[in-house]
Amino acid sequence: MQVLRIKPIDTQHIRHKMLRPSGTLEDCVFRGDNDELTFHLGAFVDSKLVSVASFYFERNDIFPDQYQYRLRGMATLPEYQGQGLSSALLRTAFPVIKQNQCTLLWCNAREKAMGFYLQVGFKPTGEFFSVPNIGKHILMSIKID
Ligand SMILES: CC(C)(COP(=O)(O)OP(=O)(O)OC[C@H]1O[C@@H](n2cnc3c(N)ncnc32)[C@H](O)[C@@H]1OP(=O)(O)O)[C@@H](O)C(=O)NCCC(=O)NCCS
Repeated sequence: MQVLRIKPIDTQHIRHKMLRPSGTLEDCVFRGDNDELTFHLGAFVDSKLVSVASFYFERNDIFPDQYQYRLRGMATLPEYQGQGLSSALLRTAFPVIKQNQCTLLWCNAREKAMGFYLQVGFKPTGEFFSVPNIGKHILMSIKID
């Protein structure tokens, strides 16, 4: 398995399949995908891209940290789940986030993925909220030291 930086467009197939199956490819383009401080990581198995995650320099005012990153579009193809790929992407991202002077990574976690985020050290904040057409989410974050 290899973790590499990928282009925004490379994330789209897995985003579409795993996160927006009833949407269009355009629904899989996220605001900030091309921003200078955004970075996208992919995990490759036998040269095939099977897991993606994207990181945006974006502050959530709920948290006091001045400089924060937001995680979006985290997904692993079903046949590759449970093999540590998403956690490998996060481990690769943490030093990059730290190098960019940020002390927190946050995300709006889907209810179904909450167990994953807890497992890798994220903590929930507040109550579940609904995102139209997608379902229940909860704000989660992890300190980057
Ligand atoms: C959530 C998701 C990204 C996790 O990816 P993954 O590559 O399977 O994650 P990992 O293999 O790195 O899992 C790390 C740990 O979390 C655990 N884990 C993974 N998914 C979990 C879940 N839904 N609930 C509880 N624990 C989970 C793994 O068992 C593993 O535990 P271990 O360290 O004891 O072995 C993947 O299940 C997925 O793509 N889901 C569908 C899309 C989605 O909901 N994305 C999140 C949007 S917010």
